[in-house]
Amino acid sequence: MSTPNIYVPGLEGIVAAQTKLSKVDGLAGELVIGGFKLETIANKASFEEMVFTLWNGRLPNEKELKDFRKSLAKLRELPEPTLKLLKAIATEKLNMMDALRSAVGTLGLNSPKENQDQWLAQRLLAAFPTVVAAAWRLSHGKRVIAPDPKLGHAANYLYMIEGKAPSAARVRGLETYLNTVIDHGLNASTFTARVIVSTASDFVSAIVGAIGALKGPLHGGAPGPALDMVFEIGDASKAEAVLRKKLAAGERLMGFGHRIYKVRDPRADVLAKAAREFYEADGDMKFYDLVLDVEKVALSMLEEHKPGRNLQTNVEFYTALLLHGLGLPTGIFSPTFAVARVGGWLAHCFEQRAAARLIRPQSQYIGETDKHWIPLESR
Ligand code: ACO
Repeated sequence: MSTPNIYVPGLEGIVAAQTKLSKVDGLAGELVIGGFKLETIANKASFEEMVFTLWNGRLPNEKELKDFRKSLAKLRELPEPTLKLLKAIATEKLNMMDALRSAVGTLGLNSPKENQDQWLAQRLLAAFPTVVAAAWRLSHGKRVIAPDPKLGHAANYLYMIEGKAPSAARVRGLETYLNTVIDHGLNASTFTARVIVSTASDFVSAIVGAIGALKGPLHGGAPGPALDMVFEIGDASKAEAVLRKKLAAGERLMGFGHRIYKVRDPRADVLAKAAREFYEADGDMKFYDLVLDVEKVALSMLEEHKPGRNLQTNVEFYTALLLHGLGLPTGIFSPTFAVARVGGWLAHCFEQRAAARLIRPQSQYIGETDKHWIPLESR
């Protein structure tokens, strides 16, 4: 195949995979996941239904869903070496994404030789929440809570963090979040996973690599800092001064801007709606209103700062609002993103396995070509 030989920084606009998993239309502000427009499925499906749909290309029937749930519930418990590692990590005070990345590397232990991809996919999906909850509790000097096989994936996650069964409204709120961010085209972490699988490597390696890519503040590390920014502002009347100072100092406003979306990220709307319902039910809209005020000011500041660049609200801004409303601590926001996105990463791993084509782009050499060797004693 002929190669264009053009250097495109950041691979912007380059199509490097074909997928049936999600369609991101950055100009229309539209997101389709597993064939469904995001807003038609995110607040209806359970997380297990969403994952099944991505992995199988269709919604499960009742029996398939029951079997899938049962099979996942059996794979939630962590192997003893993983727990030991998490305990050691807690004493080192690693950040949560580093803890997740390290522990996930051990989840291939005891994997069968046959149907390894299928087994590892279920193992990784099922055990992610257990790793995050255990890492979080251990780092706060609390005992690890074993998973409850009677609870669904999202409910069990909250249970393992807090030690009590969550309300149906909180489970629904969390599932809407998990479904909303489960997949998003060829984002950096998904691309990483696909590159690794394309070398005929295993799914654990692919997911460990993807976690590393997600950790960065330009990708999945933004919701914590976005929330911190709102806390720092504290009162809508201070928003302009605080944001102006940040922009003048060359900082990026977390939760704004996107490589693909040049209009408002459609996921922001789905999450804002879920957050609104949740905060309304709680009876306290103060924080919700502050976030909306901060958003308005931030958008007008960004237009002033980068005129015509269309820097709009992205998913991370409303992630912060929703996850905070659900009572999750800031330190667990990015790992919770990973708990969702692992479903999409694994769907891409299956797709890449089927595509069976090594991903190997080229580089353009811009260094010298005629240097002279100087013996060590003469340098
Ligand atoms: N605040 C201030 N300025 C910004 C912001 C922002 N949030 N986003 C972009 N800009 C500026 C850039 O500095 C750049 O200016 P320049 O051309 O003078 O250098 C210009 O706007 C264009 O931005 P790019 O960096 O080219 O946009 P890119 O597509 O590379 O980056 C990104 C997108 C990384 C998301 C960026 O908007 C950003 O850093 N946002 C803040 C972090 C964030 O919210 N990350 C979560 C993204 S969503 C997700 O991954 C799940």
